[in-house]
Amino acid sequence: MTASDVQSPDDIGSDQVNVTCTVNGKPAAFSVPPHRTLMDALRYQLGLTGTKTCCAEGECGACTVIIDGAGVNSCLMLAAEAEGRDIVTIEGLGAEKPRGICDLQESFLEAGAVQCGFCIPGQVMAAEYLLRTNPDPSVEEIREGMSGNLCRCAGYQRIVAAVQMTAQKRAIP
Ligand code: FES
Ligand code: FES
Repeated sequence: MTASDVQSPDDIGSDQVNVTCTVNGKPAAFSVPPHRTLMDALRYQLGLTGTKTCCAEGECGACTVIIDGAGVNSCLMLAAEAEGRDIVTIEGLGAEKPRGICDLQESFLEAGAVQCGFCIPGQVMAAEYLLRTNPDPSVEEIREGMSGNLCRCAGYQRIVAAVQMTAQKRAIP
Protein backbone atom coordinates (compact mmCIF):
# COMPACT_ATOMS: atom_id res chain seq x y z
CA MET A 1 0.00 0.00 0.00
CA THR A 2 1.32 3.46 -0.83
CA ALA A 3 0.64 6.70 0.99
CA SER A 4 -1.76 7.72 -1.77
CA ASP A 5 -3.91 4.65 -1.06
CA VAL A 6 -4.64 5.68 2.51
CA GLN A 7 -8.25 6.72 3.12
CA SER A 8 -9.91 7.65 6.35
CA PRO A 9 -13.32 5.99 6.86
CA ASP A 10 -15.17 9.28 6.41
CA ASP A 11 -13.61 9.73 2.95
CA ILE A 12 -15.70 6.90 1.56
CA GLY A 13 -18.67 8.21 -0.33
CA SER A 14 -17.60 11.84 0.04
CA ASP A 15 -17.76 14.18 -2.90
CA GLN A 16 -14.29 14.92 -4.15
CA VAL A 17 -12.75 18.27 -5.01
CA ASN A 18 -10.10 18.43 -7.73
CA VAL A 19 -7.06 20.51 -6.81
CA THR A 20 -4.18 21.62 -9.02
CA CYS A 21 -1.29 23.52 -7.50
CA THR A 22 2.50 23.64 -7.36
CA VAL A 23 4.30 21.62 -4.73
CA ASN A 24 8.04 22.02 -4.33
CA GLY A 25 8.33 23.57 -7.77
CA LYS A 26 6.42 20.85 -9.59
CA PRO A 27 2.80 20.71 -10.77
CA ALA A 28 0.55 18.59 -8.55
CA ALA A 29 -3.02 17.41 -9.08
CA PHE A 30 -5.14 15.44 -6.64
CA SER A 31 -8.73 14.92 -5.53
CA VAL A 32 -9.78 15.36 -1.92
CA PRO A 33 -12.91 15.21 0.20
CA PRO A 34 -13.99 18.81 0.91
CA HIS A 35 -13.13 18.50 4.62
CA ARG A 36 -9.59 17.11 4.19
CA THR A 37 -6.85 19.38 5.51
CA LEU A 38 -3.86 20.33 3.43
CA MET A 39 -1.70 18.62 6.07
CA ASP A 40 -3.41 15.29 5.46
CA ALA A 41 -3.39 15.71 1.68
CA LEU A 42 0.34 16.41 1.70
CA ARG A 43 1.07 13.42 3.90
CA TYR A 44 -1.38 10.78 2.73
CA GLN A 45 -2.00 11.68 -0.90
CA LEU A 46 1.29 13.21 -1.99
CA GLY A 47 3.45 11.13 0.36
CA LEU A 48 5.21 14.21 1.77
CA THR A 49 5.44 12.90 5.32
CA GLY A 50 8.07 15.43 6.38
CA THR A 51 5.12 17.67 7.23
CA LYS A 52 4.20 16.37 10.67
CA THR A 53 0.77 16.02 12.18
CA CYS A 54 0.49 16.65 15.89
CA CYS A 55 -2.11 18.93 17.52
CA ALA A 56 -4.11 19.44 14.29
CA GLU A 57 -5.48 22.68 15.72
CA GLY A 58 -2.86 25.32 14.98
CA GLU A 59 -1.06 25.21 18.31
CA CYS A 60 2.27 23.45 17.71
CA GLY A 61 3.63 24.38 14.27
CA ALA A 62 4.68 20.81 13.38
CA CYS A 63 2.73 21.04 10.12
CA THR A 64 4.24 24.36 8.93
CA VAL A 65 4.68 24.82 5.18
CA ILE A 66 5.25 27.91 3.04
CA ILE A 67 2.36 28.89 0.77
CA ASP A 68 2.76 31.75 -1.70
CA GLY A 69 5.71 32.91 0.40
CA ALA A 70 3.97 32.85 3.80
CA GLY A 71 4.38 30.39 6.67
CA VAL A 72 1.13 28.48 7.20
CA ASN A 73 -0.08 25.79 9.59
CA SER A 74 -1.28 23.26 7.04
CA CYS A 75 -3.61 21.64 9.59
CA LEU A 76 -5.71 24.82 9.56
CA MET A 77 -6.11 24.96 5.79
CA LEU A 78 -8.37 22.81 3.68
CA ALA A 79 -6.64 21.05 0.83
CA ALA A 80 -9.31 22.43 -1.50
CA GLU A 81 -8.05 25.92 -0.67
CA ALA A 82 -4.66 25.02 -2.18
CA GLU A 83 -6.06 25.42 -5.70
CA GLY A 84 -3.58 27.48 -7.74
CA ARG A 85 -1.23 28.04 -4.79
CA ASP A 86 2.54 27.58 -4.61
CA ILE A 87 3.41 25.24 -1.73
CA VAL A 88 6.86 24.47 -0.34
CA THR A 89 7.31 21.62 2.15
CA ILE A 90 10.40 20.49 4.02
CA GLU A 91 11.15 18.07 1.17
CA GLY A 92 11.47 21.00 -1.22
CA LEU A 93 14.02 23.05 0.70
CA GLY A 94 17.08 20.89 0.26
CA ALA A 95 16.10 18.89 -2.80
CA GLU A 96 18.72 20.52 -5.01
CA LYS A 97 21.52 20.49 -2.41
CA PRO A 98 24.34 17.93 -2.51
CA ARG A 99 23.30 16.21 0.76
CA GLY A 100 19.60 16.68 0.12
CA ILE A 101 19.27 19.05 3.08
CA CYS A 102 19.18 22.84 3.13
CA ASP A 103 21.48 25.23 4.99
CA LEU A 104 19.01 25.54 7.86
CA GLN A 105 18.95 21.78 8.31
CA GLU A 106 22.77 21.77 8.25
CA SER A 107 22.79 24.45 10.95
CA PHE A 108 20.26 22.58 13.10
CA LEU A 109 22.59 19.58 13.00
CA GLU A 110 25.71 21.69 13.69
CA ALA A 111 24.01 23.45 16.62
CA GLY A 112 22.82 20.17 18.16
CA ALA A 113 19.25 21.41 17.89
CA VAL A 114 17.79 18.06 16.81
CA GLN A 115 16.75 15.78 19.65
CA CYS A 116 13.80 13.47 18.90
CA GLY A 117 13.43 15.40 15.64
CA PHE A 118 9.65 15.42 15.49
CA CYS A 119 9.21 19.19 15.54
CA ILE A 120 12.23 19.95 13.36
CA PRO A 121 10.59 20.05 9.89
CA GLY A 122 8.09 22.59 11.16
CA GLN A 123 10.82 24.52 12.94
CA VAL A 124 12.91 24.63 9.77
CA MET A 125 9.96 25.80 7.66
CA ALA A 126 9.13 28.54 10.18
CA ALA A 127 12.79 29.59 10.26
CA GLU A 128 12.95 29.65 6.46
CA TYR A 129 9.93 31.94 6.37
CA LEU A 130 11.46 34.12 9.10
CA LEU A 131 14.77 34.50 7.27
CA ARG A 132 13.06 35.25 3.96
CA THR A 133 11.20 38.12 5.60
CA ASN A 134 13.98 39.19 8.00
CA PRO A 135 17.45 38.05 6.86
CA ASP A 136 19.23 39.43 9.94
CA PRO A 137 16.94 38.80 12.92
CA SER A 138 17.87 39.54 16.52
CA VAL A 139 17.56 36.81 19.13
CA GLU A 140 14.29 38.36 20.27
CA GLU A 141 13.01 38.46 16.70
CA ILE A 142 13.93 34.80 16.24
CA ARG A 143 12.12 33.87 19.46
CA GLU A 144 9.09 35.87 18.40
CA GLY A 145 9.15 34.54 14.83
CA MET A 146 9.44 30.94 16.02
CA SER A 147 7.00 31.26 18.90
CA GLY A 148 4.31 29.28 17.09
CA ASN A 149 6.56 26.23 16.90
CA LEU A 150 6.73 24.07 20.00
CA CYS A 151 9.47 21.60 20.88
CA ARG A 152 8.63 18.89 23.39
CA CYS A 153 12.34 18.29 23.91
CA ALA A 154 12.68 21.99 24.77
CA GLY A 155 15.71 22.59 22.58
CA TYR A 156 14.82 26.22 22.10
CA GLN A 157 18.23 27.77 22.77
CA ARG A 158 19.90 25.54 20.20
CA ILE A 159 17.11 26.13 17.71
CA VAL A 160 17.64 29.89 18.06
CA ALA A 161 21.39 29.34 17.64
CA ALA A 162 20.78 27.35 14.47
CA VAL A 163 18.69 30.13 12.97
CA GLN A 164 21.34 32.71 13.91
CA MET A 165 24.04 30.51 12.37
CA THR A 166 22.10 30.26 9.13
CA ALA A 167 21.53 34.01 8.97
CA GLN A 168 25.28 34.53 9.37
CA LYS A 169 26.08 31.99 6.66
CA ARG A 170 23.60 33.61 4.26
CA ALA A 171 25.12 37.04 4.90
CA ILE A 172 28.49 35.87 3.54
CA PRO A 173 28.62 36.79 -0.17
S1 FES B 1 -0.37 20.02 13.70
FE1 FES B 1 -0.74 21.96 12.80
S2 FES B 1 -0.21 23.40 14.31
FE2 FES B 1 -0.05 21.47 15.32
S1 FES C 1 13.36 17.88 18.95
FE1 FES C 1 11.87 16.65 19.99
S2 FES C 1 10.04 17.81 19.84
FE2 FES C 1 11.58 19.15 19.16
